[in-house]
Amino acid sequence: MRRLSGASSRRFYLGATLLALVVLFSGCANNGPQDFLNYQEGTNAQMADDLWDITILIAAVIFVIVEGLLVYALIRFRHKPGREAAQFHGNTKLEIILTLVPAVILIGLLIPSIKTIFDLARTPEGALEITVTARQFWWQYDYDDFGFATANELHIPVGQPVHLTLKGADVIHSYWVPRLSGTQDVIPGRNNELTFTAEEPGRYMGQCKEFCGLSHANMRLIVFAHAPADFQTWVAEQQKPASAPSSDVAGGQKLFLEGVCVNCHAIQGTDAAATTAPDLTHLASRETFAGATFKLSDANLAEWLRNPPAMKPGSLMPDYGLSEDDITSLVAYLMSLE
Ligand code: CUA
Repeated sequence: MRRLSGASSRRFYLGATLLALVVLFSGCANNGPQDFLNYQEGTNAQMADDLWDITILIAAVIFVIVEGLLVYALIRFRHKPGREAAQFHGNTKLEIILTLVPAVILIGLLIPSIKTIFDLARTPEGALEITVTARQFWWQYDYDDFGFATANELHIPVGQPVHLTLKGADVIHSYWVPRLSGTQDVIPGRNNELTFTAEEPGRYMGQCKEFCGLSHANMRLIVFAHAPADFQTWVAEQQKPASAPSSDVAGGQKLFLEGVCVNCHAIQGTDAAATTAPDLTHLASRETFAGATFKLSDANLAEWLRNPPAMKPGSLMPDYGLSEDDITSLVAYLMSLE
């Protein structure tokens, strides 16, 4: 292999360093919707962040000391002509210090870690109970206290703790809304729990954080935090059965109830009552669909009905080969479900 001359090897290392810096800094955004380092919302997120702050501070101090000593030793004791390195074996005093100091640091970190774990696991009084079922590749929310179900978009009141019971219907998923809480795995056959509180109204983006199949990256979610009165209004709307279809969309409803849709979906107030796919009773009140990945619009919904796996690889809803006329009727009906 031809060796690089001094100048080209310097250019090579400069280029490689710049490239590494570009890759490093491209990860630094202060306004990403899931950036949580500067945006903790509510007590649970704050508790986790406090623990992170202590840990990163200690780690940073250790890093600076260790790297500083390393660089110092490299320069101070570098090879010089005619000088031989000191020859010795072992240093009991130093070894005892180097064992005790990390042990003390680790025990010091253990205390706040255990305290935080127990604090986070506690369910506060008066929490809103919601059961979350994770499926490939969407989230089902059952509002146990209010008797209705919805999908992907979680609505909660501000200031009230929310206690999620997480159930897995197929493979392992993980529930994560970075600004509200740390993650919690969702494991089939076991109920995991997660508690958080939103202090400010707003929308909080989240996603599945455990690789769960082809559309893992399309398994998103949104948490909407409302003022308590607005939350009650939303609940009252969701509790209603679907309104009777107007004559324009009656054809779409007939297709829905007599075709394949009814095998998996529920629409309260009709005969559709299956629960393996999202409850569509108030579909049109949502901003998104299919794992909160696509904006809900006539065009996107039509695209979906044409071939779901083409939009979301691995989707359990297959391409049913629907005609364009049927798709138009179904979209009109579904978009009327407010
Ligand atoms: Cu569900 Cu990743």
